[in-house]
Amino acid sequence: MSLLDKLNWRYATKKFDETKKVSQEQLNSLLHAVQLSPSSAGLQAYRIIVVSDPEIKARLREASYGQQQLTTSSHVLVFAAETGLDGEYVKNYIDRIAQVRGVDRSTLELFENNIKNSVNSRTEEDKINWNKKQAYIALGVLISAAADLGIDATGMEGFDAAKYDEILGLKEKGLTTAVIAPIGFRAEDDHFSKAAKVRRPLDELIIQM
Ligand SMILES: Cc1cc2nc3c(=O)[nH]c(=O)nc-3n(C[C@H](O)[C@H](O)[C@H](O)COP(=O)(O)O)c2cc1C
Repeated sequence: MSLLDKLNWRYATKKFDETKKVSQEQLNSLLHAVQLSPSSAGLQAYRIIVVSDPEIKARLREASYGQQQLTTSSHVLVFAAETGLDGEYVKNYIDRIAQVRGVDRSTLELFENNIKNSVNSRTEEDKINWNKKQAYIALGVLISAAADLGIDATGMEGFDAAKYDEILGLKEKGLTTAVIAPIGFRAEDDHFSKAAKVRRPLDELIIQM
């Protein structure tokens, strides 16, 4: 199948087959794909919590207006934005670049200062929103990677983020929930799998200049 075929095959799964689990190997491939997501300045100021515990998934379902994807899925991926993005975080990132690329750290100072200025020019709320935007890019990569691997995934923002933060203990970890994606394999009786894609026509979506 071509990439376009795979993107047509995928859909926002409403009900997963509870008997089918994503293997550890498949999960690792998905998480590696997410790790490779691009992000502004490369900061990746978010984390992904992987939930497979049925009890936690049941609590998350309650905090998601009862949506059954939460409990029928194999795993729930919670994309959570860092709430404490600061100069120290940027410093650690620059240290990593120097180490991974084997370059003299002093050559990265201009880059470091530019990022620190960008971070410091934002309010705390702006920083969190910025980080959430990057988490959404990771969600997009996840959804595409899942389609490539024949795994179903549903991007979801129909949940109470404050309740998620509480259930998962995210505040203490310096995180807050941005968006989630249950993953697994579609249930045979999920009729949405046969529904035609509804999209804006290309000539309405694209503006050529
Ligand atoms: C950020 C985001 C949030 C979404 N939230 C929900 C949700 O809470 N519940 C749900 O059933 N679908 C949710 N969806 C799925 C969309 O409704 C779906 O992607 C859209 O209608 C297009 O359909 P398709 O993905 O099946 O092609 C969400 C999708 C995205 C990308």
